[in-house]
Amino acid sequence: MKEQLAKIRAEALAAFDAAADSAALDALRVQYLGKKGELTAVLKMMGGLSAEERPVMGQLANEVRAALEQAIEATAKKLEAAALEQQLKDEALDVTIPGTPAVMGHKHPMYIALDEIKDIFIGMGFTVLDGPEIELAELNFDRLNAEEGHPSRDWSDTFYFDEDSRVMLRSQTSPMQVRAMDTMDLPIRIVAPGRVYRKDEVDATHSPMFHQVEGMVIDKGVTMADLKGTLNTVVEQLYGEGTKTRFRPHHFPFTEPSCEMDVQCHKCGGEGCPTCKGEGWIELLGAGMIHPKVLKMAGIDTEVYSGWAFGIGLERTAMRRFKIADLRLIFENDIRFLEQF
Ligand code: PHE
Repeated sequence: MKEQLAKIRAEALAAFDAAADSAALDALRVQYLGKKGELTAVLKMMGGLSAEERPVMGQLANEVRAALEQAIEATAKKLEAAALEQQLKDEALDVTIPGTPAVMGHKHPMYIALDEIKDIFIGMGFTVLDGPEIELAELNFDRLNAEEGHPSRDWSDTFYFDEDSRVMLRSQTSPMQVRAMDTMDLPIRIVAPGRVYRKDEVDATHSPMFHQVEGMVIDKGVTMADLKGTLNTVVEQLYGEGTKTRFRPHHFPFTEPSCEMDVQCHKCGGEGCPTCKGEGWIELLGAGMIHPKVLKMAGIDTEVYSGWAFGIGLERTAMRRFKIADLRLIFENDIRFLEQF
């Protein structure tokens, strides 16, 4: 029995020493010290010993058990330390490795153009308004003097949400004129950029969704001269000093008189070229003096107040500003195209 204990001790200590990790060490603990372990098996044979031998063997067995337990504890500590060392090595962060460069984006060309326009108007004391794209037909049409039967109200031109044609995707930013009149104190100077929707097929110059910037001034004694002066100033700031404009008579239901403003072609300087389709001029916006009916519907005294308004197509402005030939490029979000600006 003595030899058996000595053998277990020697074998166990060698095995502990060779354990590769704490799981292996755990298995060894069970193998030697567990209920069905080798040392336990020897202890179970103690019953067969004589009364003199029993305490001697008992003491020896206890010594072996203590030695094994101690060795297990020491080995466990050693393995833990080694595991930590390995983990630190594996997870080491090399701060000298060059990083992945972040790709910086930039503003979309249309928003560059919009920000320029906003800056110019803010500089002249205008407030920038934001309004809903889902609009009441009452504001998009009725309050703008486009009554039942007006061609722009047709189902083939307009996106309605209901059979009664009451709620729609706004076809213009002009309902923002009405919203401003209904909510703001006079005098009013506002610009209101945003998306508008019309049932158009997509081509190089058309899209069922595009952007406009609405502008409006209402004050005492405002005339067509103020409209022309302001818009000329804006055009010179956008396209350079000396840029010529031309105002042609036009019709909008909510302005009287109404006009369209053309800008002299930046390519040919007015002589006529493919960019301006031989005209020498490029149409930029619609404008006019706000119709007295529209002012009256908003409860504004037309004996005291008058106003003007304009609506400018933002894509067209950006296309002119950056010499973009096809409207679709503005919405396709092709990085190769956008990177150029
Ligand atoms: N809303 C008009 C359009 O979409 C433009 C416009 C705005 C005309 C303001 C006059 C005054 O064509």
